[in-house]
Amino acid sequence: MVKIGATSGATEGFAPELLAVALFEGESPRDLGEGATRVVSDGDFAGKPNETALLYGQQGPAPRLLLVGLGKRDLATPEKLRRTAATVARRARTLKLGEAALSLPTLPDTGTREAARAAAEGVKLGLYRFDRHKTAANGHDLGTFWLVADDGALDEAREGSELGEKVAGGSVLARDLANEPSNVATPEYLAQKARGIAEEYGMRSDVLDTAGIEDEGLTGLATVGRSASNEPRFIVLEHRKGGEEAPVVLIGKAVTFDSGGISIKPSAGMEEMKFDMSGGAAVLGAMEAAGALDLQLNVIALVPATENLPGGDAFKPGDVLEMHSGKTVEIVTTDAEGRLILADALSYARRYEPSAVIDCATLTGACVVALGNHASGLMGNDEDLIAELQTAGEATGEKAWPLPLLEEYTEQIKGDTADIKNSGGRQGGALTAGAFLKEFADYPWAHLDVAGTAYGKKGNAYTTNGATGVPTRLLVEFLLGRTR
Ligand code: BES
Ligand code: MN
Ligand code: ZN
Repeated sequence: MVKIGATSGATEGFAPELLAVALFEGESPRDLGEGATRVVSDGDFAGKPNETALLYGQQGPAPRLLLVGLGKRDLATPEKLRRTAATVARRARTLKLGEAALSLPTLPDTGTREAARAAAEGVKLGLYRFDRHKTAANGHDLGTFWLVADDGALDEAREGSELGEKVAGGSVLARDLANEPSNVATPEYLAQKARGIAEEYGMRSDVLDTAGIEDEGLTGLATVGRSASNEPRFIVLEHRKGGEEAPVVLIGKAVTFDSGGISIKPSAGMEEMKFDMSGGAAVLGAMEAAGALDLQLNVIALVPATENLPGGDAFKPGDVLEMHSGKTVEIVTTDAEGRLILADALSYARRYEPSAVIDCATLTGACVVALGNHASGLMGNDEDLIAELQTAGEATGEKAWPLPLLEEYTEQIKGDTADIKNSGGRQGGALTAGAFLKEFADYPWAHLDVAGTAYGKKGNAYTTNGATGVPTRLLVEFLLGRTR
């Protein structure tokens, strides 16, 4: 993994193999040499987001000068810089360099600390690769990436850089877990990872196996997991650094493979259902970051983990379950399994008397239809919590957009033979799923549907195809907000 550091441009002996300077669209470079001036004035470099121009023999400490576009100055956000930094890091890696540097730009309404954080996140996430199952020699790794700050802002840059590395570290864990195929990332594998996090950061961990899940009355999880030979786990991680304060509970759906069960999915694209544990992966990633950052908060993670497979012992459409909360649920389709395991985690969470509970899940195809890959669906029963999460999404570039939980959606899932049913049909599918979860939450609660954002085929400057780590950084930002 690349080492990220902060340095002052005035440091003696500072001579990176490549120095990148970010330029706003339509603005001319100053004091970088004639080539830099000319490439702009001749119209070959406009400063559009992530546009680059590589120049040799210019002024400054480095043999290579990389101009990189930030787009229009008044639209420049930390997210733009995150992508810019990723673009630079990837270019340096392609050039097979050992070391590269980016001069931190001054963005509107953004301090050095925040800028350095965004840049560090961009570098670490941009260089991410999932290649542990490739037997051929891996590609080149960049050794060191320097963030260059003004002398007076060096401490802030260093702080921001360390913060960004730890936050991105959480996303890297989430990506690694989600990218693993289901024959590796089984429920027990996730439990082992959780135990590792607990060990490293002094958290408490508790893992329920099939017998424990049944004893606890987690019927939804026990039922979905019943037909799988990789047995389900209910994973609990407790980070307690907040004294007597009411904890935040994070819940993540971890269906390590969702075949649909008896209501089996079409086979085309089914391989993507290894990503159906992305919510759980993000929650574990957020806990890793919470530990690394030593957040002075009480944070509890609940990760119901299971496969969803057909079999002679599988649950069936028409079955009725008595859930952990006591409510009864009629199964309309075994493919709406995520809400069953989340419902149990939501009612399990009551014992913590939480200040807020946030669940995240690749819950519905309907959410992908509604918002595409650009934002996660955001629902809940508490306007302030929803606003807090939307703000955290904006700050991290992991955008979340509010969707309505009207009473009518609750009407739509009224059961015929039981209290409620696990599907309200095609119409408003993301919202009836949210309405289902709402039945099990009696504290400030929000739900993130990350079906469209947690993984994808086409990446941006700091994502690749496969897992994105969303919404790990959103969750960490939310937690950081609660420490301020
Ligand atoms: N894991 C899927 C949701 C999903 C679909 C995630 C596509 C990512 C991409 C979930 O368990 C599911 O199957 N949901 C059904 C619910 C329906 C049967 C009520 C869906 O969205 O089709
Ligand atoms: Mn499903
Ligand atoms: Zn699923």
